[in-house]
Amino acid sequence: MKIFLDTAELSEIRRAADAGLIDGITTNPSLVAKVADGDVTGMYREICEAVDGPVSLEVVAVDRETMVSEGRKLAAIHENAVVKVPLTEDGLKACRDLVGEGHKVNVTLCFSVSQALLAAKAGATFVSPFVGRLDDISGEGMQLIGQIRQVYDNYGFDTEILAASLRHPMHVVECMLIGADCCTLPPKVLWQLSKHTLTDKGLHAFLKDWDEAGTAI
Ligand code: E4P
Repeated sequence: MKIFLDTAELSEIRRAADAGLIDGITTNPSLVAKVADGDVTGMYREICEAVDGPVSLEVVAVDRETMVSEGRKLAAIHENAVVKVPLTEDGLKACRDLVGEGHKVNVTLCFSVSQALLAAKAGATFVSPFVGRLDDISGEGMQLIGQIRQVYDNYGFDTEILAASLRHPMHVVECMLIGADCCTLPPKVLWQLSKHTLTDKGLHAFLKDWDEAGTAI
């Protein structure tokens, strides 16, 4: 399963890329707004250069024509750029247009299996179902991932399921068991995956024993 980092913070991206732990990046307008300093195109280029893999950059238009023109600009920033469009009627049309021009497209804000079906029919490279936001309204976010997996497998769609809005390590474990193609994680959740209290306790005991023995490597 591919792991993407869900952030526009370059320091976090470099930290994870340096560890060789991430396969790409996803951003959204809210994440970018937190760190933008005016030169968004320059920032997008730096993000794309920091990782060896797809970087989702989202359009902010809501009509097909402007989405396509923004999408072309985003795709031209770097070969790693993937154009992210919302799962609306215009977004699906823009997806079809951009894919037809040879661009990769991530259809985002997916909350139902029927929406995921249309994203695949529109030729999306990725579909982003939002698990946490469904859970937030007492929905079954993880069930959606499983249902999309089943539908895509039933009909041989090659759109990759990019599980998004993941909030904790168990979300990631469940995604792996269900067979999501990719997970996008906030940096905090990525590093939480590495933590285990028995690892810390065991390491502490090993080093204490070693020090007491007074040996050296
Ligand atoms: C995915 O592409 C989105 O950027 C993200 O996962 C949304 O997560 P949130 O619901 O925690 O904001």
